[in-house]
Amino acid sequence: MPCDGKLRLGVNIDHVATVRNARGGAYPDPLRAAKLAQEAGADGITAHLREDRRHISDADIDGLMAGLSVPLNFEMAATPEMQTIALRHKPHAVCIVPEKREERTTEGGLEVAREENRLAHFIAPLREAGSRVSIFIAADKRQIEAAHRIGAQVIELHTGAYCDAHAEGRFDARDAELAALREMSAYAHSLGLEVHAGHGLTYDTVKPVAGFPEVAELNIGHFMIGEAIFRGLGPAIGEMRRLMDEAREA
Ligand code: PXP
Repeated sequence: MPCDGKLRLGVNIDHVATVRNARGGAYPDPLRAAKLAQEAGADGITAHLREDRRHISDADIDGLMAGLSVPLNFEMAATPEMQTIALRHKPHAVCIVPEKREERTTEGGLEVAREENRLAHFIAPLREAGSRVSIFIAADKRQIEAAHRIGAQVIELHTGAYCDAHAEGRFDARDAELAALREMSAYAHSLGLEVHAGHGLTYDTVKPVAGFPEVAELNIGHFMIGEAIFRGLGPAIGEMRRLMDEAREA
């Protein structure tokens, strides 16, 4: 059964902060990018406050909470420090991601099944505070079932392996990853979970995932922020929106 409503686009603005932090100054301003994204049709803004603060800062989160009219999806690791920050802000959504200091980006999904008890206790206060809790996981039945058991309302499926296989021309692997995403989005939806997806999506890879009827939201950042150099941020987002809508109609 398809999810209700239109496929939402969450724009991840982390890499506006990456460019800013390369010089340690005040520009480009992630909040300004977020407001532009809103105007260009973003249904939400995603920002990941990493433990090492390599891109988004605490002040960015303050600014986004105060200045956005669309919901903020606050990505964070399952640490006591981040829980305190999330409970202070009470964002619309909290997405729990794995985090390793040495990684360039969020490389894999969260290992929920092995940490079920700790994560159940970790997310309970976030839910009670009114945030929708999402868990970023691989397209793996074990992890989906564990996310469901701990009381998450949403799962976000990691599309990185699918996108990497496409970029590297490993088309059999790409198709296998896509089939797993397809099957697991339907399975998660059948359990009553809201299904999101994201990581590494581009104009070339977005349509098959956007076409899955059970997926309610895509979170996309790095590619669009890069594309904004050539087209401007509004048109870069507008093109992604167009491709998503086209896939959904087909
Ligand atoms: N979803 C999650 C949970 C992420 O961690 C990221 C990257 O921060 C994204 C989506 C967006 O990925 P990308 O920037 O590669 O589009």
